Amino acid sequence: YFNDARSLPLKGKHVLITAGPTREKIDPVRFMSNHSTGKMGYAVAEEAARLGAAVTLVSGPTNLPTPPGVTRINVESAQEMFEAVMNVYPMTDVVIKTAAVADYRPKVTYDQKVKKQPGAVSVELERTTDILRTLGEQKEHQLLVGFAAETNNVDEYAMKKLREKNLDFVVANNVSTEGAGFGTDTNIVTIYQREAEPKSLPVLSKHEVAKEILDEVIKELKERSR
Ligand code: CTP
Ligand code: CA
Repeated sequence: YFNDARSLPLKGKHVLITAGPTREKIDPVRFMSNHSTGKMGYAVAEEAARLGAAVTLVSGPTNLPTPPGVTRINVESAQEMFEAVMNVYPMTDVVIKTAAVADYRPKVTYDQKVKKQPGAVSVELERTTDILRTLGEQKEHQLLVGFAAETNNVDEYAMKKLREKNLDFVVANNVSTEGAGFGTDTNIVTIYQREAEPKSLPVLSKHEVAKEILDEVIKELKERSR
């Protein structure tokens, strides 16, 4: 017979995962977004469910099917993602924020299509809410895992995010490296923790990266329950 603690180490745990890009509307036919496809987050959601967790996936627009056993909440903007995440947060044990959330949105969203005019045009942008930072500020028992997409000074920026957002882990990837980042099926990441040395992983499939992250989460949850 199965030993649940071994085969389903996340049984009884609620894991919240965010994935994909956000879309920030300019007018009814235009938006600002980024290259995120959601693959990394969907892989984490699938593996977490396989390990026995109750999984809520808050997802921006993607072309991916919902992994088996996962509850998916679809959102578009950073603000919608923020609201969905804050609703579920009190009930969660672990949050893994793979989503590529827009840092800025158009200050004004037009109700009607903006017509073109001669010459240049500029769109004024304002900051969105930093969801992960808010989660860090309101953290109680939750274990918080952030991602950091960087093109340079990865160590420095990842550690800065870990400290400043009050996170437990940061999974950093250098998105300018081949085999890492947006749209690929593989990723090259380093997992940073507060107390331990960073763990640099080789090029792995996104599913293997997901398993590595969840291994660290399971270890940490065990530590805490001692
Ligand atoms: N994040 C978030 N809400 C935002 C922006 C980012 O929750 N409005 C989260 C992302 O989901 C990710 C982490 O913060 O887990 C880091 O995202 P990243 O873009 O790498 O860092 P930023 O803090 O936005 O800083 P910068 O883009 O300037 O590097
Ligand atoms: Ca950002």
